[in-house]
Amino acid sequence: MTNLLELRNVSKVYTRGLTHSNPTIALRETSLTLKDDEPTILTVAGESGSGKTTLAMLLLGFIDPTVGEILYKGRNIRSLTGSERMAYRREVQAVFQDPFAVFNPFYTVDHLLTVPIRRFKLAKSKTEARDRMEEALTAVGLRPEDVLGRFPHQLSGGQRQRINVARALLLRPRLLIADEPVSMVDASLRANILETLRNLQRDYGVSIIYITHDLTTAYHIAKSIVVLYRGGVMEAGDVDSVIKSPQHPYTQLLVDSIPWPNLDQRWGEHAIIARESGLHDPGACPFMPRCPKAMDICRNRPPLFQITPHQAAACYLHDKLPSVDAERLSELLPA
Ligand SMILES: Nc1ncnc2c1ncn2[C@@H]1O[C@H](COP(=O)(O)OP(=O)(O)OP(=O)(O)O)[C@@H](O)[C@H]1O
Ligand SMILES: [Mg+2]
Repeated sequence: MTNLLELRNVSKVYTRGLTHSNPTIALRETSLTLKDDEPTILTVAGESGSGKTTLAMLLLGFIDPTVGEILYKGRNIRSLTGSERMAYRREVQAVFQDPFAVFNPFYTVDHLLTVPIRRFKLAKSKTEARDRMEEALTAVGLRPEDVLGRFPHQLSGGQRQRINVARALLLRPRLLIADEPVSMVDASLRANILETLRNLQRDYGVSIIYITHDLTTAYHIAKSIVVLYRGGVMEAGDVDSVIKSPQHPYTQLLVDSIPWPNLDQRWGEHAIIARESGLHDPGACPFMPRCPKAMDICRNRPPLFQITPHQAAACYLHDKLPSVDAERLSELLPA
């Protein structure tokens, strides 16, 4: 079994200005392994500022970890040779939130799709290039004749986002990192695009990291989930258990705030009352200041406790259970 991509005990700290004051720990001591031969969909969830995009940027090699390393096929991404780097750039693709961002308004869709084909020498002739473009567009549910030759402003938001997915797919990636891919798309198209992603995983064997703050979509698309809060993993496991039976007070808060179509329950009924937060102690559980169940022991950051073979929560409410080595987080996630 080969590991496609691996975060090994990675932390990312942002500092500001020359004085390096007020450092933000955007991601803390996180390990995650993505296997090459077990395509899966993993959700990374958490509220704004929890470190989701930081995690994506690290995996894509766009930013460097402050501590720890990132390995592509067992090799540190900082020391890849030319051809290895090319393979990494091709096999790990991204789709971002804003479907406008990657489009240059002066170029047609054809241009957007031809650039990666040329850059990675994916076709030997114009006909072959055209075939690959059409195949990728069809795979994401677009009709090539509807979109080729058009400029970005002549497309809908949903079409644009699907073209982004098609562009990533052209490269036959092994892993697609999708950071809030549907948050700027109409609700009516959301399910459609998520379905497209799921088909890619099933039909093309592409693993997907689906980053979202929306647990409802996570529940429908993903197999497993990692819940982040202030850069730390609060809970992880198979998506069904974590969402139906959350074990960390933070995940419980997230699940309770979903407007499930349950008419008996009013929104905010279980809202957690924010406590006086004061200064955040980096050695404590990051959720302690907001946690309704906080105890004295929470001044020491809890490890992950194993609830079931496929669920663990970093909370002392479960301290009778065995703890899990954070570096073995991925073993909890079903493929
Ligand atoms: N370039 C940067 N410089 C300084 N701090 C940063 C930088 N990028 C992110 N941060 C901080 O790191 C933390 C994590 O940010 P990140 O963008 O990863 O969160 P996120 O979970 O993606 O949030 P959102 O849901 O709003 O997109 C935040 O506190 C953010 O302010
Ligand atoms: Mg983000």
